[in-house]
Amino acid sequence: MAKVAILGYGTVGSGIYDVLTTNSDTITVKAGEPVEVKYVLDLREFPGDPVGEVLVHDFQIILNDPEVEVVAEAMGGLKPAYSFAKASLEAGKNYCTSNKELVEKHGAELVALAKEKGKNFLFEASVGGGIPIIRPMLQSLTADRITSITGILNGTTNYILSKMSRQGLAFDTVLKEAQDLGYAERNPAADVEGFDACRKIAILASLAFGKDVDYENIYTEGITQITDTDFKYANKMGMSVKLFGDAREERGDVYACVAPMLVDMEHPLYAVNGVYNGILVEGNKVEKLMFFGSGAGKLPTASAVAADVVEAVKFKNTNLPIYWSAEKLELSDFGTSTKRFFVRVAGTLAEKKAMCEAAFGPCEYVTVDGLEDEFALVTQTISENKFAQAAKKVEGMITKIRLA
Ligand code: HSE
Repeated sequence: MAKVAILGYGTVGSGIYDVLTTNSDTITVKAGEPVEVKYVLDLREFPGDPVGEVLVHDFQIILNDPEVEVVAEAMGGLKPAYSFAKASLEAGKNYCTSNKELVEKHGAELVALAKEKGKNFLFEASVGGGIPIIRPMLQSLTADRITSITGILNGTTNYILSKMSRQGLAFDTVLKEAQDLGYAERNPAADVEGFDACRKIAILASLAFGKDVDYENIYTEGITQITDTDFKYANKMGMSVKLFGDAREERGDVYACVAPMLVDMEHPLYAVNGVYNGILVEGNKVEKLMFFGSGAGKLPTASAVAADVVEAVKFKNTNLPIYWSAEKLELSDFGTSTKRFFVRVAGTLAEKKAMCEAAFGPCEYVTVDGLEDEFALVTQTISENKFAQAAKKVEGMITKIRLA
């Protein structure tokens, strides 16, 4: 019998308890022994909830109980999760977490500590919720060099952009609706400014390239500037706008960014709509792979943590190697990365075409019925730096969006 402690009985923590208890029969077979939740740590009381039988308020009870072999954390944030993770591994316990802040900030260190102790630090649920993406990268794709990872990594923003695209609604209207439905937080900054997706692509890039990527070094743009008018052009072009987290290796340079992108119908991620996440991985041998599923939510996220618990029980005394060194990965200057750019310009195409071509060279142009006092263009592939220089020459530029 393997004993487990769950840290945090919020949305995900209570989901882990649910998965481990309701699926206990099959989990016993797959783990090779029964898996029992011995403790749930939370500061609150839960009157009438059966969790009361195993509820504790002091982490030291868990830490000092040698029977607890696996700790599953779903508290979020760095304090006290970081000290709980370190203490658990130091005490010879396996640690599974859905906490992307913890994994992004201290992942390399905790992976090394787990290795030193012959235990495991597992974090499948930290990226893509219920989507298996970490384990495939660590186990199934080890023969490949990963060349790129592109993901719709945030369900809230994907819900907002999908609604704007389909219903022509304004950003603020859809954000409010998403908050009312409980998809978006009351303070939605981490989602809509792209920071949540940024942490996730930092974790994926670290695993893809084997060195530590700091999310602070990743160029990040959220979706707050995207308007219903942008979608009128996107629809005309047969495209949609998605918030992508992207990391790629190009001729020895590694680039990473989070930004809204115009995506055409041929792109595998075009069809990932609503609160779903999708992750497209390319390897130099396996070529394209696509992972799709619920990137958030109680039970999908809990399913991934519980699967880590099963893995930790199966390999309770064997460290499963993770390709993530503490050495920092120097990202290449984002200014030298290249893309095509969509640009909206105030005025008429007839009067401004020459100016636009003088700035960007040959472009493709888009006009939308009903938008008489503006037009849009799509540049050739140019670098970020060149685009920024050229854009200064365009009088009346309204906005720009990169093309995927
Ligand atoms: N706020 C996140 C999202 C939750 O919307 O995807 C999962 O990390």
